[in-house]
Amino acid sequence: MPTPFLPIRTERLVLRPYAESDLDALLAYHSIPAVARYLRFHTWTREAGRRHLAVRVQRGGIETPARALALVVEHEGRVVGDVTLWATDEAGAKGEMGWAFHPDVAGRGFATEAAAAVLEVGFAQYGMHRIAAQVDVRNVASAALCERLGMGLEARHRQDWWSKGEWTDTLVYAALASDRPRDVGDAIVVSAVVLADADGHVLTVRKRGTAAFMHPGGKPEPGETPEQCALREVEEELALVLAPDRLELVAVHRTAAANEAGRALIASVFSHPHLSARSRPEVTPAAEIEEVRWLDPLADLPYDAAPLLRLMVPGRE
Ligand SMILES: CC(C)(COP(=O)(O)OP(=O)(O)OC[C@H]1O[C@@H](n2cnc3c(N)ncnc32)[C@H](O)[C@@H]1OP(=O)(O)O)[C@@H](O)C(=O)NCCC(=O)NCCS
Repeated sequence: MPTPFLPIRTERLVLRPYAESDLDALLAYHSIPAVARYLRFHTWTREAGRRHLAVRVQRGGIETPARALALVVEHEGRVVGDVTLWATDEAGAKGEMGWAFHPDVAGRGFATEAAAAVLEVGFAQYGMHRIAAQVDVRNVASAALCERLGMGLEARHRQDWWSKGEWTDTLVYAALASDRPRDVGDAIVVSAVVLADADGHVLTVRKRGTAAFMHPGGKPEPGETPEQCALREVEEELALVLAPDRLELVAVHRTAAANEAGRALIASVFSHPHLSARSRPEVTPAAEIEEVRWLDPLADLPYDAAPLLRLMVPGRE
């Protein structure tokens, strides 16, 4: 499925996915030693460039198997740099960014403009909670870029990276979604309910026409509180009437939406003991639910578990 917010257009730049035809434009700067100096790979030969490009064209979004969004940056039709955002945890709640630009466009703020746009995509579209950047301590231009992006310097890891023949120090910069204005933007707001059985297995549902399994729940109707929404959704989806006074808010999470690629999800997650008296009680799907499945929290999560489920299921990385 194409990522709906691409290409990203900023005041002076267009950020778009890689194409096979970008090889020469990328080689023009990735073959320069000063560009590769503090990067985690060497200068590109044409052959290496082909390999890098083959990987990068696959990085079409955090929701793809590559779990990364790799974009080239164009100015007036010319590729001048690249920015990548990738997920660093299974849920896609944490990300990291990297960038490289042609030296002949340095000093014009292009890297700042492009990286700021991708940071915004990470928070607003993918619902990421934290985005980091790791910078070789000698890479003053990149550290300054992190500062311009409003990322905070959190750590200096001493000699933690073997880079081109020597141990080097790494600066860790990061920004949090909560550092930013609290508007929900394009995010989908939902309530979800954790219903576990006597053995701690978690009830998950799959909606008709979709692939991911998730907690029962959904979007509030106008005027509904998150609690009212949770109760109504569970009744509609599973024909279970929950006692309102036993509903407990356990978390409000920002993460990626499972069924709407490239959208953030803000979920009020509740727990309720309604099904906790028996092992795997019979539950009948209703309304838009096509399938219900019990999830064993101690087993490996299935590939089709929604990002929110990956955050909520205990005992996992
Ligand atoms: C890191 C890198 C992208 C930074 O490039 P850069 O040109 O310094 O960054 P920008 O494009 O944001 O430009 C910022 C400069 O333009 C100036 N500028 C001009 N107009 C600007 C604008 N509209 N907005 C922001 N800055 C502007 C800034 O003042 C700054 O100048 P300064 O360096 O004299 O302080 C570049 O050095 C690079 O590609 N390095 C090699 C790859 C690399 O190391 N990647 C990082 C791995 S972690």
